[in-house]
Amino acid sequence: MNEKSGTRTHDLPTPQLIAEFMKTGWAPSPLEGITPSTVIPFCESRREILSKKYPGIRLILPAGSAKVRSNDTDYRFRPHTAFAYFTGITGSDALPDSVLILEPNDAGHEALLFVHPRSARDTDDFYRDAKHGEFWVGRRMTVEETELRYGIPVRHIDSVSEFLSDEKEALIVRGEDRSLDKQIEKRKKKEAEFLTTVSEMRLIKDNFEIAEMQKAVDATNRGFADMVRVLPAAIQVPRGERIIEGAFFGRARLEGNDIGYDTIAASGSHACILHWIKNDGDVLPGDLILIDAGIEVESFYTADITRTLPVNGKFSPAQRIICKLVYEAQRAGIAAVKPGASFRDFHNAAQKVLAEGLAELGVLPISAEESLKPDAGLHRRWTVHGTGHMLGMDVHDCAHAREDQYPKAILKPGMVLTVEPGIYIHPDDELFPIEYRGIGVRIEDDVVVTETGCRVLSSNLPSHPDEVEVWMSNLLRG
Ligand code: GLY
Ligand code: MN
Ligand code: MN
Repeated sequence: MNEKSGTRTHDLPTPQLIAEFMKTGWAPSPLEGITPSTVIPFCESRREILSKKYPGIRLILPAGSAKVRSNDTDYRFRPHTAFAYFTGITGSDALPDSVLILEPNDAGHEALLFVHPRSARDTDDFYRDAKHGEFWVGRRMTVEETELRYGIPVRHIDSVSEFLSDEKEALIVRGEDRSLDKQIEKRKKKEAEFLTTVSEMRLIKDNFEIAEMQKAVDATNRGFADMVRVLPAAIQVPRGERIIEGAFFGRARLEGNDIGYDTIAASGSHACILHWIKNDGDVLPGDLILIDAGIEVESFYTADITRTLPVNGKFSPAQRIICKLVYEAQRAGIAAVKPGASFRDFHNAAQKVLAEGLAELGVLPISAEESLKPDAGLHRRWTVHGTGHMLGMDVHDCAHAREDQYPKAILKPGMVLTVEPGIYIHPDDELFPIEYRGIGVRIEDDVVVTETGCRVLSSNLPSHPDEVEVWMSNLLRG
């Protein structure tokens, strides 16, 4: 695609006659009923905090460009999270190549939003430009409509290059927009610090964010119920994991949402492959299916929930033992999430339960106590990942935060994180008796740190094996 004009090799020529004809006969079509977004005051205070950290420096937060999937077709667009966080522009309102600039002034910074707005009918773009034209990609908001909706002064993106040409001292989130990157002098260390700052600012969620995360979790709960309902159908066809994945995506779309990451629908021993997203396996009665899925709501906040379910609704004795062990480990983990505890505490609490359980099962060649020492860790053969991470607009949120602010930090009210211990016994693992081999179990919930402990946002979804059986039985009967 021609980046400037949005035309492609196979597009038809446009004779002058039709070009003129296309400009005539259109009624005005303003968007009716636009209201200011409820996120505006939250974004204003986020921008104010950022402004205070960088007096006198121009701050550039690009939404990013569309990513090519193949030739001239793109992946569905998702703006950079920092752009979304500081503008409030998310979901289908987010447009590729937009950019937020915080321009320094005497009072701090003025926010300016540069976008490619609606092309009016007196241009050719609305029917010829496959990248921006509304005959191709749909109606975009005008400058005025965007200003009303998001409360930020808006300019046309075509003016951004000239705006930046004075070469004022600037920091950019680099790597999202090639043309902006080219124009801004590279300052590796300072840019890395800037990325860290915008990542760390999201560590503690405001009330808007926590309410949105609860919505995402509640929608995800409904998606899990749908996946249980289609289990009988999934058993009937090859690659039944895709029926499960499809049911979850169907729930997301049914409610106007998206998914926050590719669903893991891992039946049988696929559960031992931590990032199993191929989802091309059969779903067999007698096996477990590990499902890790999260709905992303329009504001981009996502849930991240895992349940491991018996395909036929009943756990075998070996499956139950492992599920129970992971359940107990998760309870211990959740109990350790509280203000003042360190981020590693809940991991350590869950690991202790897992190591003791594995020792009791007779598979650990040393005691649990020995294994839990930092220079041993033999139990980790069956539980190789950490027990949780920050969650928010990104499923692995705040990934650029400094060590002392995240993995080595003290938990504070408003942090949202996952607690997700697991045990994975590969099918060729001779240390376990045969009936355990190929069992993989993870239980993952989303919690918010409160003043006194934590609240489990996903507590409505059963996780104890007995409760899971009752819940599944009710869903499969109804
Ligand atoms: N779904 C990815 C994770 O649990 O971290
Ligand atoms: Mn997770
Ligand atoms: Mn997960």
